[in-house]
Amino acid sequence: MAEIIDGKKAGEDVAATVAKATAELVAKTGVKPGLAVVIVGEDPASQVYVASKSKKARECGFHSVQHTLAADTPETDLLALIEELNADAAIHGILVQLPLPAHIDSGKVIQAISPDKDVDGFHFINVGKLGAGVLDTAFVPCTPAGSMLLIERVRGRDLSGLNAVVVGRSNIVGKPMANLLLAANATVTIAHSKTKDLAGLCQTADILVAAVGRPEMVKGDWVKPGATVIDVGINRIPAPEKGEGKSRLVGDVEFAGAAERAGAITPVPGGVGPMTIAMLMANTLVSACRAAGVQAPKF
Ligand code: GUN
Repeated sequence: MAEIIDGKKAGEDVAATVAKATAELVAKTGVKPGLAVVIVGEDPASQVYVASKSKKARECGFHSVQHTLAADTPETDLLALIEELNADAAIHGILVQLPLPAHIDSGKVIQAISPDKDVDGFHFINVGKLGAGVLDTAFVPCTPAGSMLLIERVRGRDLSGLNAVVVGRSNIVGKPMANLLLAANATVTIAHSKTKDLAGLCQTADILVAAVGRPEMVKGDWVKPGATVIDVGINRIPAPEKGEGKSRLVGDVEFAGAAERAGAITPVPGGVGPMTIAMLMANTLVSACRAAGVQAPKF
């Protein structure tokens, strides 16, 4: 039976480091990390995510502001708000919660955020730095950055000689994840819906990252014995066994079967999820340290 990787504990460790470094930064320089979270519309899932990001920011000792805009807010108003936040010296991190309503061009909004405050790591400048392996001045997207910390807990920082397979090629997870694994010396393959013999490919993976957004798509017998399995998916599926209308969360990996073969595996919930928010805090702290000319802690 695999080791179950405790993302909640790992996320708490990161948040504790952030809170301590924040107190030191404030004491030494008077600079308090500031995070602005912007949400447009009333999508219930997004509201839950945004509320927990703002709460965690306050717990870390940050200056935390939330801008909640109506669903019919014109794109020009959102862009004007971003300009304001770009120019606000008290704000070190700007996060615009996605998805945005259909009348707003998400790409345009993301590229309007100053790359120096882009704690999501979605701006082309940060995407390019990660692609070029210039990690010391980049912002790395939070979910892959958090997944990488979990992998390091099991495998260490140097993944030389290990085969990594990333299932999923999104800009938010799959592609940055592959770049991080490559920067850590893994031999990386990105698989997706058009890949031939996905099962066979996954069976070659010492590190298997599933980020496809399809419930339990990666089957237990696709897992190489002893592999490290990182399940990025969070899918809500019907659970009639719990009662009528009930549901439960599952990942992109068939957990029970995979846990029998893996060396270590992340659960859903309690695996990658808590790391995402923790890394947002880490990125915001790092941004404030850069603004203050102070060395940031290593995560
Ligand atoms: N929506 C779902 N995940 C994310 C994320 O990591 N960042 C932003 N901005 N929106 C999201």
